[in-house]
Amino acid sequence: MSSMSSMSSMLPPFVAETLNLMAILFVWVVGLVAMAVVLLLIYDLMQKRNAILRNYPVIGHLRVFFEHLGMFFRQYFFAMDREEMPFNRAERNWVERSSSGKDNTVAFGSTKTLTPSGTVIFVNCPFPVLETGMPPRPAVVIGPFSRQPYETGSIINISGMSYGAISKPAVLALSKGAALAGCWMNTGEGGLSPYHLKGGCDIVFQIGTAKYGVRDADGKLCDERLKEVASHKEVRMFEIKLSQGAKPGKGGILPATKVTTEIANIRGIPEGQDSISPNRHPEVDNVSELLDMIAHIREVTEKPVGFKAVIGAYGWLEQMCEEIHARGVESAPDFITVDSGDGGTGAAPMPLMDNVGLPIKESLPMVLDILIRTGLRDRIKVIASGKLITPAELAWAYSAGTDFVTSARGFMFALGCIQAMKCNKNTCPTGITTHDRRLQKGLDPEDKSVRVKNFVMKLRKGTEIIAHSCGVSHPRALKRFHCRIVQADGKSMPLIDLHPVPEHAAK
Ligand SMILES: Cc1cc2nc3c(=O)[nH]c(=O)nc-3n(C[C@H](O)[C@H](O)[C@H](O)COP(=O)(O)O)c2cc1C
Repeated sequence: MSSMSSMSSMLPPFVAETLNLMAILFVWVVGLVAMAVVLLLIYDLMQKRNAILRNYPVIGHLRVFFEHLGMFFRQYFFAMDREEMPFNRAERNWVERSSSGKDNTVAFGSTKTLTPSGTVIFVNCPFPVLETGMPPRPAVVIGPFSRQPYETGSIINISGMSYGAISKPAVLALSKGAALAGCWMNTGEGGLSPYHLKGGCDIVFQIGTAKYGVRDADGKLCDERLKEVASHKEVRMFEIKLSQGAKPGKGGILPATKVTTEIANIRGIPEGQDSISPNRHPEVDNVSELLDMIAHIREVTEKPVGFKAVIGAYGWLEQMCEEIHARGVESAPDFITVDSGDGGTGAAPMPLMDNVGLPIKESLPMVLDILIRTGLRDRIKVIASGKLITPAELAWAYSAGTDFVTSARGFMFALGCIQAMKCNKNTCPTGITTHDRRLQKGLDPEDKSVRVKNFVMKLRKGTEIIAHSCGVSHPRALKRFHCRIVQADGKSMPLIDLHPVPEHAAK
């Protein structure tokens, strides 16, 4: 004791004072923590809602804490490269390396096991297509009967994500990136914002069940507003959303925290309230009414019109094709976007996300086959979406017969998404799905637009490499016999045997 006081008397006075203050502070902090623990202990013992906390007061809280941390630890330390869902580390890293323009070759050997059922294997040919003097990418015309058809060759495009579900800098980066890469961007169901137009890319305007951006005061489709949207030269097509993979039969959910003044104005809804759209278009109860709606929007906008749906039941598609023949082929939707049952969203109920709607691997060949059988394959273009974010996934979709692929979450990764799974919380750490200005600061639209462009370029290149290895000059020339699917016994079968291309049943 005497040696300590003699030590402090040796220190300069301001150091001794600071040490004294720190000692007092330390005692206070320890006292306050002890008091908080005692209060928590009393509260946990008295409360009746949580059995764990009643039986294990105070330390029971650690369970919640560790469960929360577990999500991060698993991602960084414990999950293997090919394990995580919805996207594993290998896929995310591929997008990350591609977007940042880094070399995305792999050393030593593949970490992918080739025996699990469903694995896709392409059949390379002995004499691949020479990559010198390649012909230009073929373009596809959508909506030949509309007054302003749309022609594009892009094999990967940006799927619908509304301004509201994603932030202003995210929309700006996607719009500019799409223009740099020459692909289209779908607005999602939240209407058209100035930020979609800013980059100058081609735009597909989506009409959701609440008709955001093209609705009147009663929430009905407004022709004047439709014309206004169509008058933008960037808007090339209109997509009626019947359903999306993550929540078939459920309308969009935009939490009140995300309904800012600006978003409310763009959508035509009240500010600061949860915005829940109807679970279907109230005026579309059957295929006739769907064809009527398509015809009406095409007439008003003069541009191609199609619809997006996740497929479950499919008899209605056959019925629709019959009715198209009865009305004339010009009455057909100009495109169908087939979304996978395991598609993503900003917010959706788990039972719908997990167990309703077919995955794209089943539904895409099914839809294509219906169109082939009914002789409408050339008339109706098909767009596929659902976890198609690597060259192999794209090449599978083109082998099955799709005309286009779109992706939402692939582009979120390109913007820097780390799969934090917080899209419904306004706390997205990368600024993509939040309207918190502080978090948005991390997302620089200029920098991220280049990443979006790089991602598109690498995805195109990678898919073309697979096509060349299979002996065809571009992905759209891939056929079902170019692709094999591993079965439960570990052996692969040609996609063409699993889904034989049907004969056109001529009428
Ligand atoms: C944040 C977010 C918002 C979305 N918003 C919409 C939307 O407004 N309209 C829509 O049809 N689909 C929406 N989707 C679904 C995607 O467009 C896409 O169909 C689905 O995620 C499958 O593609 P992916 O696996 O490449 O993400 C959204 C998806 C995400 C992740």
